[in-house]
Amino acid sequence: MAEYPGLGEVSGKRVLVRSDLNVPLDGEVGAKVITDDGRIRASVPTISALAAAGARVVVTAHLGRPKGAPDPAYSLAPVAARLGELLGSPVAFATDTVGASAQQVVSALADGEVALLENVRFNAGETSKDEAERGAFADELAALADAFVSDGFGVVHRKQASVYDVAQRLPHAMGGLVAAEIDVLRRLTVTPERPYVVVLGGSKVSDKLGVIDNLLEKADKLLIGGGMVFTFLAAQGHGVGQSLLEEDQIGTCRDYLERAAASGVQILLPTDIVVADSFGDEASARVVPADAIPETTLGLDIGPESGAAFAAALGDAATVFWNGPMGVFEVAAFAEGTRAVADALTRVRGLSVVGGGDSAAAVRSLGFDEAAFGHISTGGGASLEYLEGKELPGITVLEGN
Ligand code: 3PG
Repeated sequence: MAEYPGLGEVSGKRVLVRSDLNVPLDGEVGAKVITDDGRIRASVPTISALAAAGARVVVTAHLGRPKGAPDPAYSLAPVAARLGELLGSPVAFATDTVGASAQQVVSALADGEVALLENVRFNAGETSKDEAERGAFADELAALADAFVSDGFGVVHRKQASVYDVAQRLPHAMGGLVAAEIDVLRRLTVTPERPYVVVLGGSKVSDKLGVIDNLLEKADKLLIGGGMVFTFLAAQGHGVGQSLLEEDQIGTCRDYLERAAASGVQILLPTDIVVADSFGDEASARVVPADAIPETTLGLDIGPESGAAFAAALGDAATVFWNGPMGVFEVAAFAEGTRAVADALTRVRGLSVVGGGDSAAAVRSLGFDEAAFGHISTGGGASLEYLEGKELPGITVLEGN
């Protein structure tokens, strides 16, 4: 077959693919190591399908948040190498986004070959709020291709040139990854099987306001861990020591607790916390009651009693969405809460969805088999915005015509 769904015949055509290859990297510039290649692996099927259909595949993607100019710390070069390994054939790497290198690399592509352009955010036009500036950059990207496939689910909530504007300039199609992600998330929003349990973690309540608002109407139980828990504990009148606290959100959390009580949604907060004397200090890690956090300590994970209570609350769930680790899972002494939740998710009999970003990286780094989960999303912010019921520009633009 030389066709790609939604695009028709692609053999011999230059197809620009927007992927989300924003992976965590460690180490020095020039010797960076990818610590979790989940997003690259998730991007492979679409790229492979296009290459197998004879397209000349031009992948564009971002890494981190560079400031609209080249910055070697955010180069996609290590990602090009890993993508080539996973595809089983080398990926030509352009050292710029749309300039001389990109043009040369694209024009040298044979049918079925793949190129990756340098970090698309090295060009200020990519993320510009100015439509004309963004449009001008999208024109340059579009000039590199005959058609566009949108496959970067993790960025579909961004109105950016390579996600949004370029789709207005080329014949386009939704990639298989984006289609699969939307399919699963739709099952969470349209008549989810009950009980529907949502686990939220991560550092900030302020990042999750929209989703909590929405879920207070939809979910049966809301389990809360991670750094955001301390603002909830403060809302209940407890001291949180030196833990992360968003003072300006205490009132909002109090309101959530009241709304949940009134509407019959169960909000579960941890009853014990693993604290330490300073951030990441394993030697001083100890478990204390959640309502008696010592003034000089800070909480870095939910405690074992809470991990067991969260696992029990997940026991009868028919649908689960989880976003955000329960603690600083990168450090062994503060990883057990996240492990307890991940482990409970593997036993859910219905649909279990791990919502991207840090929680997806956590399940892989803690050694869980990805196949044990219903779906591991590649989009953190994107899946949250979908669940909030927000319009995702990168999806709307595809449906427009
Ligand atoms: C992500 O990491 O969630 C996506 O790659 C989007 O990145 P961004 O938040 O920098 O737009």
